[in-house]
Amino acid sequence: MELLSLQFDPRHLDAHLIGAGQDALMMARQFQGLELNLILHGEMMPALTALAREEGWRCVGEMPRTGQLWAVATGCAAEDARWAARARERQIGVYVPSCPSLSTVRLPVRTQALTPEAPNALRRGHVSLVGAGPGDPGLLTLRALERLREADVVIHDRLVSPEILALANPEARRLYVGKARSAHSVPQEGINQSLVDWAQGGYQVVRLKGGDPFIFGRGGEELQALAAAKLSFEVVPGITAATGISAYTGIPLTHRDHAQSVRFVTGHLRNGTCDLDWQTLAAPGQTLVFYMGLGTLDTLCDQLIQHGLSASTPIALVEQGTTARQRLHIGTLDDLPARLAELEAAPPTLIIVGDVVNLHDTLGWFATQTAKSLGWESGKHPSPLPLADSR
Ligand SMILES: C[S@@+](CC[C@H](N)C(=O)[O-])C[C@H]1O[C@@H](n2cnc3c(N)ncnc32)[C@H](O)[C@@H]1O
Repeated sequence: MELLSLQFDPRHLDAHLIGAGQDALMMARQFQGLELNLILHGEMMPALTALAREEGWRCVGEMPRTGQLWAVATGCAAEDARWAARARERQIGVYVPSCPSLSTVRLPVRTQALTPEAPNALRRGHVSLVGAGPGDPGLLTLRALERLREADVVIHDRLVSPEILALANPEARRLYVGKARSAHSVPQEGINQSLVDWAQGGYQVVRLKGGDPFIFGRGGEELQALAAAKLSFEVVPGITAATGISAYTGIPLTHRDHAQSVRFVTGHLRNGTCDLDWQTLAAPGQTLVFYMGLGTLDTLCDQLIQHGLSASTPIALVEQGTTARQRLHIGTLDDLPARLAELEAAPPTLIIVGDVVNLHDTLGWFATQTAKSLGWESGKHPSPLPLADSR
């Protein structure tokens, strides 16, 4: 869509900032030194109140109903979306820095007004597409840690654990763009645009994704947007759920006595239809790993049996693998779907199908040793200890 460029005298603009935390502070800094007639709403964090005092901005308790521009930075994607919708209903211009596609107004990131703790205006922006691994922070690569510590902005998904986010530069702005089932999520084009905007503003951006960014992670699409905008980027691979969970369940995916190949498959069936090549998936001598397959477990098992796999083929369902909340359920293609309701499995879950699953009996180590080796016994980790296997 073509945008109309208008310029306003900021002293006569009726502008409101919606949000009171770290994100709102970052937004407010974009307005510093502009003599903008800005009104801040709600219970502000102290740094924001101090900035408002310096700039002569008014802070009021109640939320806005009118105005010409609402800048929305609540720190919560769903809340940002609600305020953006209200602004559009009232025909008030709205800017949502975390999601350009919700905005009706674009404000370029101001590099010329950067505060001392913000990046040097002359520095070139750069995006590191970083894999955060499946959950255990100990599985981050050294380079991933380095990039997190250097980041100005971390744009992350739902699967990235709070323990990993805590390793990022404490000054870095954290933007959540992940999908939660019921809540609003930022559309992919919005994420792409956000990466482009931040990099063009001269910031060091870490785009942090669960597992490996190139395995069912849409990392390629995001890099294509950066390449089209001629921005500089790199990829820091991560341990994908399949390999992390293989290790933490003692299920070697290609033990040569049982499997000569392994296939990573999406269980997220398009339009709920079975458009996978079941014939080749049911071939012997291989291990299948299904990502995003919890909702279609029934169909997966049924189709594999119909296409020739024995009903007694072992199958593992792993919840929240490599974390202290990891739970492992082992069964057969025939019986696991029927037990699913009673298992009350919590996402994310990974499914492994093949004879290698039986090796867990002798090679499983995580449930017994984890607590001690990771120091979780001492209460360092907030979650309960890993549960015993469930069969
Ligand atoms: C959109 S895919 C992203 C995969 C990710 N890029 C990777 O390489 O692991 C999300 C799926 O990965 C799997 N997954 C990721 N982390 C997991 C974990 N800790 N435990 C179980 N499954 C996990 C689940 O199947 C989940 O639905």
